[in-house]
Amino acid sequence: MAQSIAIASGKGGVGKTSIAVNLALVLRQLGSRVTLLDADFGMANAHILMGQNLRPRIDKSMLANGTVDDALSTSAHGVTILSGGSAALDLLDLKKNERLQLIRNLESLSDETDYLIVDTPAGASDATLAFVAAADRIVLVVVGEPTSFMDAYTIVKAAHLEHGVRSFSVVVNMASDGQEARRHFDHFLAIALRFLDVELTYLGHLPMSLPLRRSVVARRPLMANPADAKGVEAEAFRSIAQKLLKAPANKSSGIRFFLDTMEKES
Ligand SMILES: Nc1ncnc2c1ncn2[C@@H]1O[C@H](COP(=O)(O)OP(=O)(O)O)[C@@H](O)[C@H]1O
Ligand SMILES: [Mg+2]
Repeated sequence: MAQSIAIASGKGGVGKTSIAVNLALVLRQLGSRVTLLDADFGMANAHILMGQNLRPRIDKSMLANGTVDDALSTSAHGVTILSGGSAALDLLDLKKNERLQLIRNLESLSDETDYLIVDTPAGASDATLAFVAAADRIVLVVVGEPTSFMDAYTIVKAAHLEHGVRSFSVVVNMASDGQEARRHFDHFLAIALRFLDVELTYLGHLPMSLPLRRSVVARRPLMANPADAKGVEAEAFRSIAQKLLKAPANKSSGIRFFLDTMEKES
């Protein structure tokens, strides 16, 4: 029963990739088979945080031949990474039908993975929205800045109005403390509910963290480092993962990564 999880934010630099990578590792450590799709095609960097130098990568032939089985992936810390690689110019501007074809092709993963985590590109492009709407669960990453709220709101609004998505989960990143993070979430919730018929589930926060930043520089994810496993960040990642798996799922119709997930659940 494979499930897909999209990580989105609108604004760049708020921690999407850091969260995608570490959530993938938490789920792996819980015993699940995890695939991380770096959907920031052409400017991929999840593999860099995972300490991998990629050669195999998604390319246009994968769109055409309808399979992801042909060693188009690499593995790091037990997580399979699917990535367009960096500077893959032919993937920077996928056409709509190519993107939908790619999402469809990932269905073939459903027998070999439990969770597909999708790190989406910044912005609210058609590509980002297609990946968001195709996921069973959607994690919005916000930081306590008006620009972050507005960009995340843009994603919620577009995903809701254009794709019928109602259910989103929210992580507040780089917060000073839990109370401040909760205030940020409540503020964001109030904005969203004022204009849209959506539901937002609060998953928790991550502190502004030097270890997290260092882990990026060291190219070894925090959750891959046993020495960090008892830190506040590790606790936060585990708690966020648990709440996420219980959060309401996206029930919108349309093209999905795993077509029959919802049918299996119901
Ligand atoms: N909780 C945090 N505390 C400190 N730095 C963080 C935190 N989360 C992310 N960062 C840093 O912010 C920068 C952007 O993070 P990244 O995950 O690449 O964001 P995005 O994928 O949204 O662009 C990186 O340098 C990362 O180390
Ligand atoms: Mg990123």
